[in-house]
Amino acid sequence: MSIENIKNRFPVFKNNSNLVFFDTAASALKVDSMIEAVNNCYSFEYANIHRGIYDLSAKLSKKYEDSRLKVSDFIKSPSEKNIIFTKSATEGINLVATCMKSNFLKKDDEVIISHLEHHANIIPWHLVQNHIGIKIIPVNINKEGEIDYDDLKDKINSKTKLIALTHMSNVTGSITDIEIINKLRKPFKIPLLIDGCQFIPHKPIDIKQYDPDFYVFSAHKLYGPSGLGILYMKDKWFEIFPPYQGGGSMIEDVNILNSTYASGFEKFEAGTPPIAEVIGLSSAIDFVLETNLKNIFSHEMTLHNYALEKLKSINHIKFLGESRNKGAIISFNIEGIHYNDLSLLLDKKNIAVRSGHHCAQPLMKYFKIDGTARMSFGVYNTKDDVDYFIKSLNEVMQILKNV
Ligand SMILES: Cc1ncc(COP(=O)(O)O)c(C=O)c1O
Repeated sequence: MSIENIKNRFPVFKNNSNLVFFDTAASALKVDSMIEAVNNCYSFEYANIHRGIYDLSAKLSKKYEDSRLKVSDFIKSPSEKNIIFTKSATEGINLVATCMKSNFLKKDDEVIISHLEHHANIIPWHLVQNHIGIKIIPVNINKEGEIDYDDLKDKINSKTKLIALTHMSNVTGSITDIEIINKLRKPFKIPLLIDGCQFIPHKPIDIKQYDPDFYVFSAHKLYGPSGLGILYMKDKWFEIFPPYQGGGSMIEDVNILNSTYASGFEKFEAGTPPIAEVIGLSSAIDFVLETNLKNIFSHEMTLHNYALEKLKSINHIKFLGESRNKGAIISFNIEGIHYNDLSLLLDKKNIAVRSGHHCAQPLMKYFKIDGTARMSFGVYNTKDDVDYFIKSLNEVMQILKNV
């Protein structure tokens, strides 16, 4: 599918045709086919799944499980049985952290994260640290905003029980080289958790090639619905981990004083799942596959490079992270102008950019700043968007310099 005119597929632009949306890293706009799939599900197909033996329930249960297969194929997982649906990527990481705390990690074990992480891949480990006294070992990053692989090598040792890293930073856009991580960790047999939230909407992935123990992402950043996260988990953890939550669907047999549990993904999916959201995700995956992730990435990077060139001509602009291996995210500050003022005035011109710490306070502290303005690109952005953004930015800067 051609990317030209793809804005027509996003109903928000029908209502708000001048909207220039540069905040896809926070959450992507919603594509028509996904909205229709969710609408159809609630309108015509809805019943609770995995419970009723009547036709509606059986049909939707099948569609729901077909979606699991779609997700599995999309990330090239060895099997759909390795896919667990959660309510968000955040919940996926919390699930891993909580289960590891119960039956894997012990006092003084070391968990390596990096200064690049989103809070979603920091705080769950703080909670484990607070409960059982693990040690969190942060890896440095270089001035380009990339993981410092030499520092990682120095920090790996026999006490390292997990490496948990982002695949692509939501602030600098830098992409982590999983091949290098694998070379460093595999001799020590250290499990790997990858936070794929920012990577998944932009580049194809092959779980078999990356071979992580856990890979998490959120549907809402992939043009899909909010309220749904995906956790890929390697087979062996299904046995090691106790249930994360108790309730309906995750059981084998229940007595009034005790119970036994399902063994597969069901063990980690207690309660009525996000049914319509999973159906919507399946449709969003169809959209990115038809559009082709390689085309999406190349389109976004062409716009990113064009915008970066234009931004570089602005006096006193500072970029946070200029990795050569990155996705289409530009974080910047302009000397003398507060990022919040910038983004508020851009909003008056119907331009959406994020400003603040981007749920990455340790990264801000690492670079001794407290926030940035952030432009992040999606499939619907155009060269006109960038031109309008640059023109508006210059106007806004003039206003703010005269205040
Ligand atoms: C890199 C990264 N990890 C994790 C998350 C958390 O995702 P969610 O809020 O969908 O759980 C985000 C969201 O911005 C993110 O950018």
